[in-house]
Amino acid sequence: MSAPRGQFSSNIGFLMAAAGSAVGLGNIWGFPTKAAGNGGAAFVIVYLLLAFILAYPALMAELTIGRHARRNMVQALRGISTGPISRIFANLAGFGGIVVASLILSFYAIVAGWMVAYLADPFANFFGMSGATDWLTGNSTGRNLTFTAIFSGMTMLIIAAGVEKGIERWSTLLMPSLIILLLLLIIYVLTQPGAMTGLEVYLMPDFSHLSPKLLIAAMGQAFFSLSLGVGTMLIYGSYLSQQESLPRLGALVTLIDVGIAFTAGLLILPAMYVAQEAGTQIFSASGELIAGPDLILQVLPALFETMGTAGLFVAIAFFALMVIASLTSSISMLEVPVSFSIENLGVRRELATPLVGLVIFTLSSLIIFNFDSLFGLIVSISTEYGQPLLGVALCVFAGWIWHRDQLLAELKKGHENIEHTLFWKIWPWYVRIVCPLLILAAFVQSLS
Ligand code: TRP
Repeated sequence: MSAPRGQFSSNIGFLMAAAGSAVGLGNIWGFPTKAAGNGGAAFVIVYLLLAFILAYPALMAELTIGRHARRNMVQALRGISTGPISRIFANLAGFGGIVVASLILSFYAIVAGWMVAYLADPFANFFGMSGATDWLTGNSTGRNLTFTAIFSGMTMLIIAAGVEKGIERWSTLLMPSLIILLLLLIIYVLTQPGAMTGLEVYLMPDFSHLSPKLLIAAMGQAFFSLSLGVGTMLIYGSYLSQQESLPRLGALVTLIDVGIAFTAGLLILPAMYVAQEAGTQIFSASGELIAGPDLILQVLPALFETMGTAGLFVAIAFFALMVIASLTSSISMLEVPVSFSIENLGVRRELATPLVGLVIFTLSSLIIFNFDSLFGLIVSISTEYGQPLLGVALCVFAGWIWHRDQLLAELKKGHENIEHTLFWKIWPWYVRIVCPLLILAAFVQSLS
């Protein structure tokens, strides 16, 4: 029944795909605005620490289990289970991952749809189509449905093409473009008046913000940004060849993710202060920096407008950057339920992709029709509850349930002397004890 499995053709292909999954709206939108609201560099430092001491070990758990099992999360966890109880637990976590990945995609596609609409806007503007411009940037149900459908369609087209021809090919093409666009935008914005104030706000640590709340915000951000918990990284690991060193590749993915998040801060915060200089309101009535949708959909477009013709190009570059970042992430989410349908239900990829895609689009539509009551709820259930709890489950599988000698054997592939490395001395007890406890502690804190 099992269809032939895809595989990344190269090391770089995997890196681009995994980094593409990690780098998304979470990096370019979420990270800079969280940093701005939580003491600038104080948040950046805490985030960097957490990314390496918490998210990286959890990422390693997913990659190692995935490459060992060469299957989706449900089958992978069942495969390393040792008895009936752990098998039940495997099913719960495996299906939980599929549900949470689908929920995350259902709201992510809406936000990404806004990015596509705002990318179309400068073109409509250029051709003087003011009616179209109003529709594209107005927040109507019709606009939202249309662009969520367009974005979901693009995601499905890539996933239907498979691992090598879809995921790998597009990630390898899009990730370098993303980096070039980001750097060009930073260079441009930093030469504008006001930019240096933004840079200062971003890079001057204000440690008075240090609090449990900041820790939780940074942890949630790190988990979301590295696409953890739902089996995204597990399934990408399962397409990875056995000649590569997992600890090294995992570290590279973490570095790229953190590096791009940090770099995006060099764009967003200066851009806000440039907007202020140009007369746009950047603080809300309560005196805080505007974050959320208002920042991306109002403050920045208002800034681009003040830049005249150059602003059209800057707007196109900025929203193209957002669309690219979203697309390499959304494909990794869709691959979770699709790989399950292929491997467990025996459906062909060409059929599984539109079917699953349609179910998720239906979910997105439900959210769009009930935006005020559902959007925040789905974000919170999936990222504040689902992701950390599933992250704990994956650490428990890697640290407690899976046989230690099998785990070592898997890590040795592509890293012969792993037994004598610092990684092997620290990581196994780390995923066993420290990671689950830290995640749970933060989770409990966030409930109170
Ligand atoms: N990491 C991506 C971002 O920063 C989003 C993402 C992709 C994700 N796959 C995921 C988040 C799986 C949670 C789970 O935007």
